[in-house]
Amino acid sequence: MTFDLIVKGGLLPDGRQADIAIAAGRIAAVEPCITAQAREVIDATGRLVSPPLIDCHFHMDATLSYGRPRVNTSGTLLEGIALWGELKAQQSREDIVARALDYCRQAMGKGVLAIRSHVDVTDPNFRTVEALLEVRDIIKGKIDLQLVAFPQDGWLRAAGGEARVIRALDAGVDVVGGIPHFERSMADGAAAVRAPCRLAAERGLMVDLHCDETDDPLSRHIETLAAETIAFGLQGRVAGSHLTSMHSMDNYYVSKLIPLIAESQVAAIANPLINITLQGRADTYPKRRGMTRVPELLAAGVTVAFGQDCVMDPWYPLGSGDMLDVAHMGLHVALMTGTDQMREAFQMVTEAPARIMGLDFGLCRGARASLVVHDCSTPIDAIRLRPARLAVISDGSVVARTTPSVTTTAQGW
Ligand code: FE2
Repeated sequence: MTFDLIVKGGLLPDGRQADIAIAAGRIAAVEPCITAQAREVIDATGRLVSPPLIDCHFHMDATLSYGRPRVNTSGTLLEGIALWGELKAQQSREDIVARALDYCRQAMGKGVLAIRSHVDVTDPNFRTVEALLEVRDIIKGKIDLQLVAFPQDGWLRAAGGEARVIRALDAGVDVVGGIPHFERSMADGAAAVRAPCRLAAERGLMVDLHCDETDDPLSRHIETLAAETIAFGLQGRVAGSHLTSMHSMDNYYVSKLIPLIAESQVAAIANPLINITLQGRADTYPKRRGMTRVPELLAAGVTVAFGQDCVMDPWYPLGSGDMLDVAHMGLHVALMTGTDQMREAFQMVTEAPARIMGLDFGLCRGARASLVVHDCSTPIDAIRLRPARLAVISDGSVVARTTPSVTTTAQGW
């Protein structure tokens, strides 16, 4: 048999050395030594070969817009939302598509082959949704783009919020979104959790809410989300994004909350680059870190992933599309520098987000042949060095290659 491609001599994230044979876009074999012929061979000797990097929380309709129409001078979430409102009214569909494709090209070069992007459905012109549906078609077969119908201005607070979510879902958007902490009252917030869960149950969809992205310890919409997930039978199909209020909550309350989240099988998505800069803004000293309780959620068996959230947009002036940057920041903020914890941080930008998005990536026979060859040998070194992604393979095809930069010194040592 002649395979399409063999990746030779790589080291899997668990340390095993293996050749990986690929045929018809699928992994045909993972064995210590494959001697069969292939149309192409990639020498990955001694290099980490991992499943693709995955970003399960992003805002592609706003990315790479930094400075338009002005910069966020306060650096706060609320000025970012106001600034996005100004940009949303001005940008064309072509603008959004061009910026999104530019971002996808950068992210793909970093080994990112699946992205869950929230798309703001409260754009009265619907350009954001139309643009990202177009982008999803253009990048199909290279990057899996999963879209979340996200009512940035509120489910109830903005007129016609629910109708706009439904219009987006009818147009082909995949997941039901929401932002309960942005509603006018806690009661409205609870209603803005129940409504997306009901809609998802009716349509057989997944749910991913921006949930409790605040330093207010009394913002407890995650409790409602877990309870409604159970009530609607949505276990395993729901994610709570951000969950930053958990950082500031009373510990006794959290001792009840985390088991409830685990029972409901609600996944948690932390966005460390963004929340380490947005949260704690009103504090003097000590300043809270404001990221959700990642190690505690992991210890309870909750699926936890890290997301990028923003790159060069109204909320965040930095970012590179590299999920290894996100893992690097995430493990620092969460104090996860134990050896097993650092390995877990790598899984939080590969396996965990795949689970949340329902994707069958994995380095085993029969899985989609999507993988990344890193210029290092272990997941921990991948996070430490964030080295070149030598080859990025999507569904059996090489979609990006990067040549490592070489440094020479004049000292001769
Ligand atoms: Fe977000």
